[in-house]
Amino acid sequence: MPGDGSRSPSLLYTRRDTLPNVPDLNVQLSRLRLKNPILVASGTFGYAREMSAFVPFEKLGGIIPKTITPLPRAGNPPPRTVETACGMLNSIGLDNDGIDVFVQKHLDYLLGLGTSIIANIAGHNLDEFVRMAERLGQFSQLAGLELNISCPNVTGGVDYGTDPKQTAAVVKGVRDVSPLPVIAKLTPNVTDIVSIAQAAAEAGADAVSLVNTFSGMAIDWRKRKPILGNIVGGLSGPAIKPMALKIVWLVAQKVKIPIIGVGGISNIDDVMEFLVAGATAVQIGTANFFNPTVSAKLVDELDITLASLGCQSVNEIVGTLKC
Ligand code: FUM
Repeated sequence: MPGDGSRSPSLLYTRRDTLPNVPDLNVQLSRLRLKNPILVASGTFGYAREMSAFVPFEKLGGIIPKTITPLPRAGNPPPRTVETACGMLNSIGLDNDGIDVFVQKHLDYLLGLGTSIIANIAGHNLDEFVRMAERLGQFSQLAGLELNISCPNVTGGVDYGTDPKQTAAVVKGVRDVSPLPVIAKLTPNVTDIVSIAQAAAEAGADAVSLVNTFSGMAIDWRKRKPILGNIVGGLSGPAIKPMALKIVWLVAQKVKIPIIGVGGISNIDDVMEFLVAGATAVQIGTANFFNPTVSAKLVDELDITLASLGCQSVNEIVGTLKC
């Protein structure tokens, strides 16, 4: 995989401690306020403990821990990951210990990390989403809920994000029972993602995360076998960045709620591209696997890049693409 080399032309400033003015990185996504737009994506950061040696968590705009479900899930049979050209396929299958263990073992720790914590939840049906949202809604220190209606590796639940009516139903169901900001994480594996983002917005989503992984597969042709135990999986990493970027740009033109861009972001140019395309914040995902320190580094680089452009605030950049 490529590293995080930057394509930026030379910047006016190269060190954060030499900036005459540090730009304002605060962003507002409807009811969700973040101290900066750099989040880490669900499924790429565990429940944060495993990243504590690499990342000063308080620097981040927020952490989205691995998806939780009502009951523990063992996930899909191995192999569950395979590296591909500029990316990786995963078929984890929402392996997690369930909401009880999340609340008992991880939540206090996460809420003490000095950054916004957005719980990511998935259910097999509307009732499961609603019950999880109701329970997590009791934790007012949580910054929000991200609804995983887009995992390509499980049956049921994923269907919500492929249909505007079902997307609206789950967003509305969650909003009705939880005071927390609601983010719908959408799948790119649809014909018309704009209509699904629109449905999420009309149902009361505070933001949409665009996008989850692209469905794909890997084959060992010598054995005539699929490589993943689940046969198919979700593609992430730099390979999908141009497609994710296009989706963000497309949706930003039609849908009024804020967008969180996700898909192959691994360096400051990627961050800037997503912001210019219309994302108010971004998630760093697969890059955490090949460069675990990248997320915090990007916060500093965002300051430097914005200051070099003469921006007082990151919001001056969002949605400024000239076509
Ligand atoms: O299979 C997985 O656990 C992946 C989840 C996702 O892509 O949302």
